[in-house]
Amino acid sequence: MIPQSFIQDLLARVDIVDVIERYLPLKKAGANYFACCPFHGEKSASFSVSPSKQFYHCFGCGVHGSAVGFLMEYSGLSFVEAVKELAQQVGMQVPDDGKPGQAQQHPAHDKLVDAMATAARFYREQLKHAPEAVNYLKRRGLSGEIAARFGIGFAPDEWQGLQRVLPDYQAKHLAEAGLVIDNDQGKRYDRFRHRIMFPIHDRRGRIIAFGGRVLDSGEPKYLNSPETPLFEKGRELYGLFLAQKAIRDAGFAVVVEGYMDVVALAQFGVDNAVATLGTATTPHHINTLLRHTDRIVFCFDGDAAGRRAAWRALENALEALRDDTTLAFLFLPSEHDPDSFVRSAGADAFRKAAAAATPLATVLLNELKEQCELDSAEGRARLVHEAKPLITRIAAPLLRLQLVKAIAEASELTQNEVEQAFGLKSASAPRSRFNATRSDKHSAHADFDRFPTDDFPPAGFIPRNRPPRNTGRRKPPSAIGTLLRLVLQHPNWAARLPVDLIPDDSPEGRALIAIIDLISLGETLPAGGIGGLMERFRDTPHSDTLAQLGAELLDTEFDEGIVELMFEDTLRKLQGDAITREIDQLLALSKEDTLSTTDRHRLSELLIEKRNLASAGKVSDL
Ligand code: UTP
Ligand code: MN
Repeated sequence: MIPQSFIQDLLARVDIVDVIERYLPLKKAGANYFACCPFHGEKSASFSVSPSKQFYHCFGCGVHGSAVGFLMEYSGLSFVEAVKELAQQVGMQVPDDGKPGQAQQHPAHDKLVDAMATAARFYREQLKHAPEAVNYLKRRGLSGEIAARFGIGFAPDEWQGLQRVLPDYQAKHLAEAGLVIDNDQGKRYDRFRHRIMFPIHDRRGRIIAFGGRVLDSGEPKYLNSPETPLFEKGRELYGLFLAQKAIRDAGFAVVVEGYMDVVALAQFGVDNAVATLGTATTPHHINTLLRHTDRIVFCFDGDAAGRRAAWRALENALEALRDDTTLAFLFLPSEHDPDSFVRSAGADAFRKAAAAATPLATVLLNELKEQCELDSAEGRARLVHEAKPLITRIAAPLLRLQLVKAIAEASELTQNEVEQAFGLKSASAPRSRFNATRSDKHSAHADFDRFPTDDFPPAGFIPRNRPPRNTGRRKPPSAIGTLLRLVLQHPNWAARLPVDLIPDDSPEGRALIAIIDLISLGETLPAGGIGGLMERFRDTPHSDTLAQLGAELLDTEFDEGIVELMFEDTLRKLQGDAITREIDQLLALSKEDTLSTTDRHRLSELLIEKRNLASAGKVSDL
């Protein structure tokens, strides 16, 4: 048996989009990815993959599941084989399933990882014997403690220094790991020589690459490991492994450009910083960070290059934005980078500046407005034109709405006109939507219709010929169904549900109770991923219930702006239902004249409670 905890760890580490992308080309449309379904013949793309739910679903043939499920279906693997395959893809070791005599397999990755670890140990050891390197670090103000925390080392000025610790110096995997280079004559030498060495860790703390800085001057200033089976630049963030806890504690992550920036900030007690590795910030970086926090502060130099880098980060962030996240930009005075800034102004000044960083939407608007002359009609038209490709990429409905409104104001158009110009509104009647409301005019649900969630992605984006789903009369979901959907959207809300209010007479109710039971046993639910929840309930009836709701949510999710209200409203409805049930029982008893004094007392209490709930206007159909 593979422990459930391992499966959950594994699913937390893999991204279903990456997994499926190895087998199928996926196209992004809105929040989800689409492809032609590999499980049934089709020409249109009905197969959708949700990164936020870690779940795939085909609207054509109905297949669905988690990353594990996909591998089972696609490659015909057994459950255990699929878990092993997935684990290998991300370099995790499946725990021994207890069968004796079975040697752990030693995949190729492990060899590379071992070599990197050996090299890192060698570089650290060399630093102790290299006064010039130690002096350099001292001159840059680093303490021995911080150097040790980041595993900083030194590659000696020798052509084959690594041979001392890697006796199989000619082995193929050392070149694969990027530690050595073979020249034209087939002679092999160390890639890193005479450099300060910064090891780059993956999220599990394994060393997967190095950055090497020259001492003082020389070109290139930083030499980095090439892309290897272990290291893909656009995905990794320097310092994330060490910063994870601090990011959670601080409630935000700082993204800087340089190794030395991360190290210097940490030296001053700002532990929640990470750096991109000589590349622009990618959507991967942002999604990775958003798994740890909902606030990211990008810190750039105040000069023109810094502003350009900020703009690139902004463009790459648009698709990853959510209504419950804040991305902000901190522009330092032009003569500073984060390293020099924290040294001269101190940690508190840096933290203050980070707290006051400019929100992404403001940066976006200001930059656009600066590009266009708003006192002419042409300039205002240009503003709308320039804004369109940016704003239509934002999938977060409320944020997009805010920006649309701001653009409307600046361009002296109405919101409607801007939406038309952006192609966010078609002239035809809106599609019917999955509507969680009871026809309850008093409830917050009525507001649901105001948010333009369904108009995005624009019509042309959506795979055509998908079988119609929302047409026809779908039974309005029960309160329990709604709650379960809300919990799928926000698994940690399950902890707020009183289990005794939940009737177990429906599959949704039973699934919900099972989820609450897990929590009361102290298990943390897989955050945000229906795929993870489904694996948790594999081989139980709940798995199917969850899959069905997951598929519906892929299509239309409750708008984040009102889910909290809906959740509370639905809870109240449940309370109301429970009160009504009890009243009915007591009334039935009273007809038979068997009501005790206590019962009578309880009945009048209940009637008052019911009246209070109803007069709060929240539960109109009591
Ligand atoms: P910077 O040139 O701003 O260097 O490059 P820095 O971080 O301030 O370094 P110090 O303070 O001079 O030591 C920022 C980042 O760009 C990448 C590195 O990741 C570096 O940390 N870079 C820079 C390279 O990969 N190669 C280079 O030659 C230069
Ligand atoms: Mn610097």
